Amino acid sequence: MIDLHTHLLWDWDDGPDDLYQARAMCRLAEQDGTDTICLTPHIFRMTRYKDDLGVLRQRMEEFGREMRAAGVPIEFHWGAEVFVHAEVVRAVEKYRFTVDQTSYVFLEFASEGVPAGAANMLAQLMSKGFVPVISHPERNRGFAARPELLFEFVNMGCAAQVTAASLTGELGKEVRATAGLFMMNNLVHIIASDAHRTIGRPPGLSRAVQAAARIVGESKARAMVTEIPRAILDNKALPDWGEPENPLRRKAWTQRLLGMPRRPSRAAVGDRDREGDPGSEAGPAGEGPKRARPGSTTLLKIKKKGA
Ligand SMILES: [Fe+2]
Repeated sequence: MIDLHTHLLWDWDDGPDDLYQARAMCRLAEQDGTDTICLTPHIFRMTRYKDDLGVLRQRMEEFGREMRAAGVPIEFHWGAEVFVHAEVVRAVEKYRFTVDQTSYVFLEFASEGVPAGAANMLAQLMSKGFVPVISHPERNRGFAARPELLFEFVNMGCAAQVTAASLTGELGKEVRATAGLFMMNNLVHIIASDAHRTIGRPPGLSRAVQAAARIVGESKARAMVTEIPRAILDNKALPDWGEPENPLRRKAWTQRLLGMPRRPSRAAVGDRDREGDPGSEAGPAGEGPKRARPGSTTLLKIKKKGA
């Protein structure tokens, strides 16, 4: 199996503190059947050295050296998990924080919501040849409350990654239900561990694949940790994955089935929530009337908050 989103690099972000913890994480991954890992250290959030890319480069070289010396039987690749902020397009273009030298780039939205201008930002990245991979949308309150946003972004050509622990329920019932909803609507392409430690969010994909198989079937669940991540590592187009579906179209019964809380009514959240509204990407959603007005929550503000 291929784990495309992990924090195994020590002393850089909120991942392991040292080589020994990183080695222990590799052992767990290996025991669970993972043979290929992409390291995706945080950029613009949770970093210990103020995003000093010189330190990052040094850590990456050290990691490669130590793992080779220890004979760790895992194939390693490099990417990054880039926090979305006002300058994210320019930063990705300048530094190419992609998975290896491919077009695919992991983007992490602040967990409170999906900021105004997100669709525009994604479109800009795509116009420059990048393929955004949205990190764990099921853990984002905006996507959870307005799943049609993920449909909109996947329809544009983005990919989405769900975290293994979300599918197994370790991150709570609501997160599991949201992950299930996205799976059922063909909005998920990758399952990854997003491992940070040996305890808490450890490496391991197999239980999540079993959980996903109960929703989308065995072969599709397996493809999310094999065929799809391999295509990304090889910088190929994703295999035919079928049409994404808009969760709103069948939300009532799927939400009941998955035990999800019901969304606030249309009247409560306002007219801008209508599907197809050009401003539908705006605001940290899901808070009904308290939701910020379009334009009042900018990418810049999100950056300041997460900095
Ligand atoms: Fe992550």
